[in-house]
Amino acid sequence: MAQDTYIGAVDQGTTGTRFMVFDHSGKVVANAYQKHEQIYPEPGWVEHDPEEIWENTQDVIQEALGNADLSADQLEAIGITNQRETTLIWDRESGRPLNNAIVWQDRRTTDRVEKLQEEGKEGWIREKTGLEPDAYFSATKAEWLLDNTDQIKLQRMRPDDVRERAEQGELMFGTIDSWLIYKLTGNHITDVTNASRTMLFNIHEMDWDEELLEEFNVPEATLPEVRPSSDENHYGTTDADGFLGEEIPVAGALGDQQAALFGQTCFDEGDAKNTYGTGSFMLMNTGDEAVESEHGLLTTVGFQRSGEPVKYALEGAIFITGAAIEWLEDMTLIEDAAETENLARSVDSTDGVYFVPAFTGLGAPHWDQRARGTIIGMTRGTRREHVVRAALESIAFQTRDVAEAMESDSGIELTDLRVDGGAVKNNFLCQLQANIVGTDIVRPVVDETTALGSAYAAGLAVGYWETVDELRDNWQIDREFAPEDPQNVEQRYGRWKDAVERSLDWARD
Ligand code: G3P
Repeated sequence: MAQDTYIGAVDQGTTGTRFMVFDHSGKVVANAYQKHEQIYPEPGWVEHDPEEIWENTQDVIQEALGNADLSADQLEAIGITNQRETTLIWDRESGRPLNNAIVWQDRRTTDRVEKLQEEGKEGWIREKTGLEPDAYFSATKAEWLLDNTDQIKLQRMRPDDVRERAEQGELMFGTIDSWLIYKLTGNHITDVTNASRTMLFNIHEMDWDEELLEEFNVPEATLPEVRPSSDENHYGTTDADGFLGEEIPVAGALGDQQAALFGQTCFDEGDAKNTYGTGSFMLMNTGDEAVESEHGLLTTVGFQRSGEPVKYALEGAIFITGAAIEWLEDMTLIEDAAETENLARSVDSTDGVYFVPAFTGLGAPHWDQRARGTIIGMTRGTRREHVVRAALESIAFQTRDVAEAMESDSGIELTDLRVDGGAVKNNFLCQLQANIVGTDIVRPVVDETTALGSAYAAGLAVGYWETVDELRDNWQIDREFAPEDPQNVEQRYGRWKDAVERSLDWARD
């Protein structure tokens, strides 16, 4: 009897790497996860070791397959999804990275972005890329890596060789998707969604932008080829002599937030989702139109299937949400994230405490690189329960900030919001979110929609799924949270905005 076949997905996120295997109904049949080290060489700097990420990727694939008693040849294709913007450069010949990857949260290029702002280049960049110039995106990170060769870990290379070797195409620039596609297939490729987060890519012409490459001094020869997110021509196959021992097509890739949009089957204009991970990212499908934001949102590429036009999205990128809960853990206020639900419920309110977790500046809709975290309103009677509840409220309030911006930009009223990511297991948070945004919050059965989205992209490319309607049929509601008893929501939201004001521009020189 023929063996069952599946689709695998590598989900390489900010804190760890997951491999999941899905069956035809979109059900998870295998799953393994490993964390990697967060490296903080200086205040405001965040790095990851790309070799560690690659090691972990191989380990989780082996582990997931082993645990579920599956063999590699049962995988019809592999999809990739990844933390976006995180940037690295590696040597074409040896395949070794020159340096640690500079993570999306890293603020080392803040001054460079402020220079762009002083030179009045914001509008010009926004027009081409749909992005609000910020250290968040890859362009200034790549520039920094090529210009600061004395500060980075160099593999068999003199620092002064780096620019020259980059010009000659001996070095490769990439985001994490490119790095993993390269390690898995040997090909230097990125997908349209990841390219759209580099601030080097023109989202209207759908090509690398010569003027931006010149501005950031990134040689064209270092850039990956840009391909659809679901690619019938495949990015390549794994090596039969490699760690999997099989040739498996790698046929789909999307940045993790776009993957979640795809996994939530937000295929139609106006469909929106919010993913609660390290940060939260609300995306709304805007169809064939790249809608320009007037309220601090990003215009980005949502996805593209082979032979089909690009679908655009509006995005509200919130840098810190789940990471605020991790911070509570680091401060030993809680032992683990699961505890927050009971702690928050054990008090009636935050007792006037507001927590703005602007640890790495504020993203949408404020875009303030120098904002910093603030807890305000504490009294002698403030207890950890209040601070924990304020941390959860900050997630919901920040989401309302971007939801309002999205409704204004798109002219579409949100009637429900599909949610996913680790934090949505927390029923208290989901209900709070419904109350604060005033819309239904819909949680699907499979909350790992990021991995699912990249599996769908890869599976469609190889014909494992024939149409997106099959994927729509797979999507099922676990629970719906309707807005209820919104205790002084408007007044509390007003106080939240006051607290945000106090965190703005804090880290000025
Ligand atoms: O833009 C950054 C985003 O892609 C990171 O997502 O889930 O790894 O925190 P996550």
